[in-house]
Amino acid sequence: MSAHETEIRGVGHSVKRKEDARFIRGKGTYIDDIHLPGMLHMAILRSPFAHAKINGVDTSRAAAVPGVIAVVTGELMAQHNLAWMPTLSGDTEAVLATDKVRFQGQEVAAVVATDPYIARDALELIDVDYDALGVVISPQQAMASDAPLIRDEKEGQTDNHIYHWESGDKDATDAAFASADTIVSLDTFYPRSHPSPLETCGCIADVDGATGQATIYMTTQAPHLIRTVFALVAGLPEENIRVISPDLGGGFGNKVPVYPGYVVATAASLLLGHPVKWIEDRSENLISTGFARDFHMHGEMALKSDGTMLGLRTSLLADEGAFHADAQPSKFKVGLFHIVTGSYALPAAHVEADGYYTNKAPGGVAYRCSFRVTEASYLIERLVQNAAYELGLDPADLRKKNFVPQDAFPYESATGFVYDSGDYHGAMDKALEMIGYDELRKEQDAKRAEGKLWGIGLASFTEVVGAGPHKDYDIIGVKMNDGAELRVHPTGKAILKISSKTQGQGHETTFAQIVAEELGIQPEDVKVQHGDTDNTPYGLGTYASRSTPTVGAATAMVSRRILEKARKIAAHLLEVSEEDVEFERPTFSVKGAPDKAVTIQDVAFAAYTNFPDGMEAGLEGSYYYDPPNLTFPFGTYAVAVEVDPDTGVWHVTRMVAVDDCGVRINPMIVEGQIHGGLTEGYGIAAMEQITFDEAGNCIGSNFVDYLLPTAVETPRFELGETVTPSPHHPIGAKGVGESATVGSPAAYVNAVIDALWPLGVRNIDMPLTSAKVWEAIEAAKAGASA
Ligand code: CDP
Repeated sequence: MSAHETEIRGVGHSVKRKEDARFIRGKGTYIDDIHLPGMLHMAILRSPFAHAKINGVDTSRAAAVPGVIAVVTGELMAQHNLAWMPTLSGDTEAVLATDKVRFQGQEVAAVVATDPYIARDALELIDVDYDALGVVISPQQAMASDAPLIRDEKEGQTDNHIYHWESGDKDATDAAFASADTIVSLDTFYPRSHPSPLETCGCIADVDGATGQATIYMTTQAPHLIRTVFALVAGLPEENIRVISPDLGGGFGNKVPVYPGYVVATAASLLLGHPVKWIEDRSENLISTGFARDFHMHGEMALKSDGTMLGLRTSLLADEGAFHADAQPSKFKVGLFHIVTGSYALPAAHVEADGYYTNKAPGGVAYRCSFRVTEASYLIERLVQNAAYELGLDPADLRKKNFVPQDAFPYESATGFVYDSGDYHGAMDKALEMIGYDELRKEQDAKRAEGKLWGIGLASFTEVVGAGPHKDYDIIGVKMNDGAELRVHPTGKAILKISSKTQGQGHETTFAQIVAEELGIQPEDVKVQHGDTDNTPYGLGTYASRSTPTVGAATAMVSRRILEKARKIAAHLLEVSEEDVEFERPTFSVKGAPDKAVTIQDVAFAAYTNFPDGMEAGLEGSYYYDPPNLTFPFGTYAVAVEVDPDTGVWHVTRMVAVDDCGVRINPMIVEGQIHGGLTEGYGIAAMEQITFDEAGNCIGSNFVDYLLPTAVETPRFELGETVTPSPHHPIGAKGVGESATVGSPAAYVNAVIDALWPLGVRNIDMPLTSAKVWEAIEAAKAGASA
């Protein structure tokens, strides 16, 4: 056997994704690929109005269509106490509207038919009598004293305000500002965007009236949590509910909330005694499910004239839409926004936020983000750049002067996070070196002298992922502990069952690599099972880059648990005491006599055939991991752009991304995650936006209005890495999935603003479309000549 064949492809190996064997052959099984005997099809009627009273719903014409089995209305759902449901954020949400509709695209009724086309066509024959009401499309409108009351059905709700939330020390921050030489401020809006997974949401509900067994195939990133919620809402025994999340075509946070379609399909299956399939179309997905951001931010930074940062103050307005359903798992109302002090040793900070109802679909989901961390990272990195200009400092120098120093970790931020580890100077130095920063600045000066608009933007983000320690993190009271079960079979092959649910991130490969790392069983010999509540351990789901910090840790810990038993069996086989056994993957040998050895495969066989007296047979175990802390990945992104002054068109000439996510399990998968995130970050910075007209119509209900970057627009990325392990994670890994979406928008925008700074442009809100950039250039020129 060659050395190559015996090398264990554990942590650090770019193992090709096991799951791709089925995906690239078109053999994935997505919800719409599943057909059950006797299955019916459901389509949903949605409101054309953003806010309207419902006087009545007449279903008679639709019900008469041949092939229509049932028309479900809010009134029918109300008879079963299912017209409203709780949200994962402690609010209530209409399943099918009864009293009024509160956003365009809200679910009003559903048709169940023998065929999906009949169901869709019959929707047109449902007659709904609406009376249009006044519409609120921003938090600023929502807070006006004469604003229409959106949630008038909620007892005690007299205005559109949902919550007020604060973090940090207000007095200390006020004192810091009082002693400052310079105060820099920025007002900016992070626009509403949509995660837009390739596969839309859908489900097949199969409720067996005879046995009470409910099997629900569902596009969900959190199958266990959904099962618990269904049990609580529908009053069904939890063991009779099986949620299966098959292959998912992306999630990005869009597939965390519970959508009315899931509930109506389940109720319809229960009432009709048939499986019921519901699949959204693209526009339904874009107008009604899981929006993100929509966050109005005011930030102020206090500094000394030498650039020392003294304090940070932010006030925020969150547009939560008509129902507060952002599905975030912390007790903090705007998620982890208070990571806003970022990579800087800011001695004082204060964050203030208010959430409002508006006549828009529920928003605020963590689109490839740990709950408002994207917004926080954007604000601080834009502010720091502006502060550098105001003080006449280079933005790189200002950052370096204020970075949390490497020897200060673990570092407690002014808002109470304890950063686990970091080397911010290291990541920044590497990025500057890769992009050739000093040379680039000289080149920029020369280009400026020629009248060209060249810009260089930096962003040094600190992320917070891996929710989370049980004292602060739960969803509806369920703590965020995640499980892994591992069984090694007699032939030495293993099955790993995990609570996370991959949506394209490659868990079937990377989690097998963790087992390989710990036990020496090759990743191809470890089958990874996920997404089926009957067959996997409990856990809170996959979002916010939490799988590696939580389930990855559980996988390492269960492997170690099994290794303890394996060592005992090896000692038995080698006829020595346990203390005399050494393990070097995949071999157990006798200390001082390396030729006396058995492999993990020999041990596995013995676990079923030749184990010590008094020992239980088998080689398996489970572990539930309660993270002692979150993990804090970080990095520096550097972008160079050229802006055409006549058209406002800008293009990225260089994009360097240095990421540090601790130990990389699979470097190739990590790079894939970063490529995807940088692309999404570019899309948000350059082109993606969902707006609403005055009547509350959603402009962005298709991919012509809501632009996503294609390979043509996407910049070329140059990746670098530093490795600073997490001290508390069993294998030193931090999450990475969302880092690039979180960190990169500020780098792109900073580059464009850097290009325009000499003209006097200080801010352009995302997306930086060429029209907006051109307008800013023209306004600056007009201002200069006035
Ligand atoms: O929760 P989610 O899977 O979306 O995010 P993640 O934990 O950041 O992991 C994304 C993918 O990158 C998974 O396949 C991880 O196993 C992999 N990864 C890695 O190989 N090394 C890391 N340090 C972090 C993630």
